[in-house]
Amino acid sequence: MKKLHIVGNWKMSLNKEDSLKLAHNIKLINNKDNLNIEVAPTSLYLAEIAEILQDSDISVISQNFDFQNLGSFTGGICLDQLKEIGVNKTILGHSERRSNFNESNEQINNKLEIILNSDLDVIFCFDSYEQVPFDILSTNLKDNSKLKLTLAYEPTWAIGTGKTASIEHIEEIHTKVKETLEENMLQEIPILYGGSVNSSNSKEILDTNNVDGVLVGGASTKIDQLLGIVNSI
Ligand code: PGA
Repeated sequence: MKKLHIVGNWKMSLNKEDSLKLAHNIKLINNKDNLNIEVAPTSLYLAEIAEILQDSDISVISQNFDFQNLGSFTGGICLDQLKEIGVNKTILGHSERRSNFNESNEQINNKLEIILNSDLDVIFCFDSYEQVPFDILSTNLKDNSKLKLTLAYEPTWAIGTGKTASIEHIEEIHTKVKETLEENMLQEIPILYGGSVNSSNSKEILDTNNVDGVLVGGASTKIDQLLGIVNSI
């Protein structure tokens, strides 16, 4: 049975009260053997939520990072700080970071190189085959570190719009990426799909060839939707 991943990206959607409430509800989820569940709360509440979910089956990850080490970078978050609060993985290159915060491909790819050479793991988001920096992956992923990386295909037009990509489209892009990963001996890297995933469409998406999981925004902030997605497996 293939290992599946459900990642909840809470974005900046919840205030403190609702974030903590959701974390307490999620804590009660009993995970299955073949499933990995992660949630990415707003960075302000990361430490508190990491503590709430410490002994649960759910891991807490970050939505982004700016630098590797401590330093004079006003407003930034670094990998050392994430590690210090028990967060060992982060999303990188989400299309909302690219569009709303003007993070360029170059900046994101530089951060990718940094994290691939750190001891933290990363979910790298891309919205087209061309946005996957295969050269950086093959240069920076050593044999024993391939599972540091997860890729997430998120077509921008499907994010938060209720318009999920068709199964044929998802399979086509995932297969193309997987084939190039294979050529680079990186076929173990999981590829998630994201964009308007909910409890009604998750099963079909997760059953698709070369889909190893889902990155879920809006639906992951509602406990009944999240449970529906977990139970659809
Ligand atoms: P959505 O967001 O599920 O609300 O479309 C997905 C994402 O941005 O990761």
